[in-house]
Parts: sequence; C-alpha cells; structure tokens
Amino acid sequence: MAKIAPSILSADFANMERDIRALKEAGADWVHMDVMDGIFVPNMSFGFPLIQAIRPLTDMPLDVHLMIDRPIRYVEQFVKAGADWLTIHIEADQPHNTLEALDKIHALGCKAAISLKPRTPAEAAIPYLEKCDMILVMTVEPGFGGQKFMADMMPKLKKLRQMLDEVNPSCILEVDGGVDSNTCAVCRENGADVLVAGSAYFKAADRAAFVKKIQA
Ligand code: DX5
Ligand code: ZN
Repeated sequence: MAKIAPSILSADFANMERDIRALKEAGADWVHMDVMDGIFVPNMSFGFPLIQAIRPLTDMPLDVHLMIDRPIRYVEQFVKAGADWLTIHIEADQPHNTLEALDKIHALGCKAAISLKPRTPAEAAIPYLEKCDMILVMTVEPGFGGQKFMADMMPKLKKLRQMLDEVNPSCILEVDGGVDSNTCAVCRENGADVLVAGSAYFKAADRAAFVKKIQA
C-alpha cells in the first residue's frame, strides 16, 4: 500500500486551517509543502511562516519539498519550522554542498531526501544514495501544479529502486507531479512508496475515496 501526500499548493490559502484538518479526515498520510524561490523554479510559493503556522494544526508528517537555489543556506530554518521530511534538489547546488546539506538535515533530527527533475538521470543520484531516507522523482517540470504526468519517468523510478536495493534498501521513493486516480497505478507498479497529489486531490468530489484509490 502506498502513502498519499496531498500538496497544499492547490489548497485554498484563505482557508488553510480548514484544508489541513480535512486532510486527516480524508485519510491522507502526509502533508506535502512546495517551497519555491523564483530562482530555482520560475514561480514563488511560500516559506517558513506557513510551515510554522501549520505545524501546531496537525500531527501528520510535514513533507517539505524545497525548490530553492542552494538549499543548504536554509535547511536549519526549515527543520526548526517543523519539517519531518526535507527534500532538496540535486540540481540546486554543487555535490559537496548537497552532501553537507543532507548531513545537516540528519544532524537536526529530520529525514533527508533528494529530488530529481525530469531531465536528470537516475545515475546522478549515485553519490547520495546512502545518505537519503527518500528520493523524489519529479513527473512534471517543478514549479507549477496541474501539469500533465510524464509516464516516461517510470523507467527512472524502477532503476532507482534497483539501485537502492543494492546499497540502501530502506530508502523509499516518492513521485510528484500529475498524479491522479489514473496515473497512480503505474507509479506504484514501478516502486513508488509515496504519491504526491495536488490538483487532483483538491478537485476530487469525494476526497476520502480519492485517497483510497491512490493508496490502493
Ligand atoms: C510541482 C510541485 C508539486 C505540485 C503537484 O513543482 O512539486 O508538488 O504541487 O501538483 P499536481 O499534483 O497538480 O501536479
Ligand atoms: Zn512537490
């Protein structure tokens, strides 16, 4: 059974508390929070204040996806704001800084993950495999919700699972972008443990039923 992490990028920002509380009622597992800086991706979203504000509202794990340039500069503040899982992009800095950032996240008592943009091959993750608790495979170009799922990322997902089984079998895989009740099955079949769903979750007429379909 897979976990679902609804992305609050598609929530109603004027009713965030209501939407966060409803996640648990719908049976969702994690809260996915997309931080964008307008530099690493061509969009801006939110930063520490929203994570801090949401932290006391829920006991669900906060899964914070940093789409920011040189994330090492801010990992401490995101962990202190309340992240349980912190994901950084390997394209966002030099390898030595990415490795140091992963160590820093762990030293702060948080789970550490890396993310790969669609054009980044599975092999680019090799230096980080043993330092990760999770790898996030993007199935859209990061920056916006509501884009079309890239099914051609599935071989990469499968390959990462095989690579991890050799060196770090407890590391899990997350898929993010265009996940809905149709595209979730192929993600699970290719090794996804956690599925992020933004627009499809918030648009669903029956969110509890949607959650069950994704977890199936
Ligand atoms: C995209 C974000 C995603 C986004 C997913 O850059 O990382 O988490 O919110 O949205 P959907 O599910 O609508 O593709
Ligand atoms: Zn995301």
